Amino acid sequence: MKMSRNVLITGGAGFIGSALIRILVTKNYNYSNIINLDLLTYAGDPLRLPDDKSIHTITGDISNKELVTQVFADYRPIIVFHLAAESHVDRSIDGPQAFVQTNIQGTLNLLQCATQYWQDLSKSDQEIFRFVHVSTDEVYGSLGFDDEPFTEDSIYRPSSPYAATKASSDHLTYSWWKTFKLPTIITHCSNNYGPWQFPEKLIPLIISKALREEKLPIYGDGSNIRDWIFVEDHVHALLQISDNSAPGERWNIGAECEVSNLTLVHSLCDKLDYSKARSDNLSYRDLITFVDDRPGHDLRYAININKLTSKFNWTPKTSFDQGLNQTVNWYLQNQDWVQGISDKANYTKQSRLGLLSSSS
Ligand code: NAD
Ligand code: DAU
Repeated sequence: MKMSRNVLITGGAGFIGSALIRILVTKNYNYSNIINLDLLTYAGDPLRLPDDKSIHTITGDISNKELVTQVFADYRPIIVFHLAAESHVDRSIDGPQAFVQTNIQGTLNLLQCATQYWQDLSKSDQEIFRFVHVSTDEVYGSLGFDDEPFTEDSIYRPSSPYAATKASSDHLTYSWWKTFKLPTIITHCSNNYGPWQFPEKLIPLIISKALREEKLPIYGDGSNIRDWIFVEDHVHALLQISDNSAPGERWNIGAECEVSNLTLVHSLCDKLDYSKARSDNLSYRDLITFVDDRPGHDLRYAININKLTSKFNWTPKTSFDQGLNQTVNWYLQNQDWVQGISDKANYTKQSRLGLLSSSS
């Protein structure tokens, strides 16, 4: 049976998946239908998605074999972007089970269903099909301050339960290429930021807490370094890679933007001082509080993007200053969304425990 020019995105109601869908809808990428398979966990929100008739959202679990088989049969995608995951390191320390279930079991199920579908395609369709597994730089573990940035050949040394489950899903994905010839590609991106990010991640957490004049928690001494990329730049890299990469390849994605957590939080405070001064005219910097370090906290991430820039002439378009300004402005205008998704997350957590929502 023939494929359609449909794209299947898992986790399309999440932060990065929804950015991918927004770009696919506004720019003409020539896909007929965008199929978004998302369980809508605490982190997923359909509000992130535009109202467009090409988007078909299916609420369901990537670990559900019957459902995923049916999705492949019904929509016959030409490409899969696999983004569905449990994505937050701190949560993986408190409760690793959901990470094992979704990131490992879910990826395994998706690979098996994709292979069954792919094996029935014609030879020419088999060659075009791609399964893009969106992974992270965290699988490489931590760098010291003087180490060279990670390359695609860096060894796997995951520190957190989250990173360990992503590493495991990478290995499964690569083995499906080697063993079954499913045309998979793996990407390793550094820290994303931008509008619509769930307010448990550092940048939206700091902005939202600052606006409520709450303490701004910095783990340890704030010297840990992250390599930041604006989410739309990540998406454009994924689209370049999916169009041009041979199967079995791995690609690092980043924007060569290493910043320590303390420096980053200082610049967020300064931007807020300028855009929305506190009523007492004190700086938001006064709210910074150093708290206990994250267990196993990776010191530094830095991504070498030579492969991507040299092979595909790709470069990130958004400077850190522009991207942070855009992000701060977006959160200034969208605190209602932040409140809404936070309330929903609290409700989900409490109702799983059989309790009533504190916000109800
Ligand atoms: P996110 O937490 O914002 O979104 C994850 C989405 O997956 C949510 O919409 C959620 O509802 C969905 N989901 C979770 N479990 C599911 C399941 N069992 N079945 C179907 N859907 C499920 O995450 P994000 O920040 O958008 O990250 C997306 C992907 O990119 C993840 O795989 C993550 O590991 C990877 N990544 C993230 C970053 C980053 O900085 N955020 C960097 C590199 C790689
Ligand atoms: O590197 C890519 C990874 O980036 C992705 O794979 C993950 O899905 C994504 O969550 C992100 O992981 P981090 O752990 O780096 O992101 P987080 O926003 O949780 O933390 C960024 C840094 O800020 C990290 O060094 C920990 C620190 N931090 C975080 C929080 C939430 C604080 O100092 N205080 C905080 O309250």
